[in-house]
Amino acid sequence: MIVGLLGCGIVGKSVLQIASKKEDIKIKRILVRTLRDDHRMTTDFMDILHDQDIDTIIEVMGGLHPAYEYISMSLKAKKNVVTANKAVAAAYFDELNQLALDNNVSFMIEACVGGGIPWIKELKRVSRFDEITSISGIFNGTTNYILSNMHAYDADFDVMIKDAQNKGYAESDPSADLEGYDIVNKLALSVDVAFQTFLNPSSIPVFGISTIKKEDIAYFKSKGWTCKLMAFAQKYQNSISAFCMPTLIKDEISSQINANLNLATATSQFLGTIQLIGQGAGGDPTASAVISDCYDIMTNLHYFDIHHSYPLNLSMTSYPFYIRLEKSVFHEELGISYEYDEKYVYIQTAKMTIIEIFKIIDRYRCNDFFAALIWR
Ligand SMILES: NC(=O)c1ccc[n+]([C@@H]2O[C@H](COP(=O)([O-])OP(=O)(O)OC[C@H]3O[C@@H](n4cnc5c(N)ncnc54)[C@H](OP(=O)(O)O)[C@@H]3O)[C@@H](O)[C@H]2O)c1
Repeated sequence: MIVGLLGCGIVGKSVLQIASKKEDIKIKRILVRTLRDDHRMTTDFMDILHDQDIDTIIEVMGGLHPAYEYISMSLKAKKNVVTANKAVAAAYFDELNQLALDNNVSFMIEACVGGGIPWIKELKRVSRFDEITSISGIFNGTTNYILSNMHAYDADFDVMIKDAQNKGYAESDPSADLEGYDIVNKLALSVDVAFQTFLNPSSIPVFGISTIKKEDIAYFKSKGWTCKLMAFAQKYQNSISAFCMPTLIKDEISSQINANLNLATATSQFLGTIQLIGQGAGGDPTASAVISDCYDIMTNLHYFDIHHSYPLNLSMTSYPFYIRLEKSVFHEELGISYEYDEKYVYIQTAKMTIIEIFKIIDRYRCNDFFAALIWR
């Protein structure tokens, strides 16, 4: 396999390192913005696109543009594409997958979800013969690291963000992780493969952890709950639900998934429930998923079967929720249980649908407010 590598950052460097030890994968050109001392580097994508030796593109630049244009051009030029870029893959999955199909090449996304965990392969394998009915998971190591340490050390949110940044677990602008947008892209791709449909990530309701406080964690601990930022999707007969929000759990495997680990759970008719745990990010685990996709391409062609079109339906299931609001803005009947301190009211609601809770979230989002799903 002769490869053109787009991007040479954390993941790109690990891909280079693993590939340098493999005789059957040769990285011929590397696209960068600033040339360094590697004769393979270029700043012009056309050098890679028009190189007839290159049969496979590994895209690890990130972002929507120009990643989308480069991937589209590569597939049209009959080059396989392997990407770790969940933002572009989730936003254009149906289109890019179809382009691969039309041009008889592969479009591979294993590294987009769960880092080194072989999750997408497993969903694809199971969905060929079994009906996957639900998926859920902890798909973001940064938020999991922050929440685990807030629980362990009764630490402030701001302190834990700085700690995560110092250790390299959080980016200098961590908002995509904290607001749940990174998870929504991963959930959309998981839904696409598991339910063989296309779900636009921008249609998935999401509430992240940027407003969580140590007062919330103290309340959770008093009730025996652990808080995790989780993604859920469920398949009904002719529709699907999908959402991402903080979730309160007791005695589940998910409550033991600490630090920057990821957990991915799928339930299907015959297989029952499977749970995969592993390093959800980092250069080497992600690059191992990229290289594993390259080996799959070398043994066969790969694209995904997308033949359903299920609408999003957020009113099929109901759950109880936790809400924390400042007493001064609280003036409506929301709950079945209320506790107060000097500043806040802590509420447990009756069961309500995802549509109903996101109406409340949207009403209070700008306030000093936090909400979480109570799983058990
Ligand atoms: N890091 C992880 O743990 C991880 C895990 C799973 C998935 N991913 C995904 O993998 C992708 C790469 O992540 P990363 O952490 O490796 O990012 P990164 O360290 O920021 O590296 C991105 C590289 O791409 C280059 N680049 C960006 N735009 C470019 C352009 N238009 N032309 C040429 N080069 C360009 C950057 O060059 P400059 O240095 O010149 O800016 C940089 O070297 C992202 O989509 C990310 O979501 C990352």
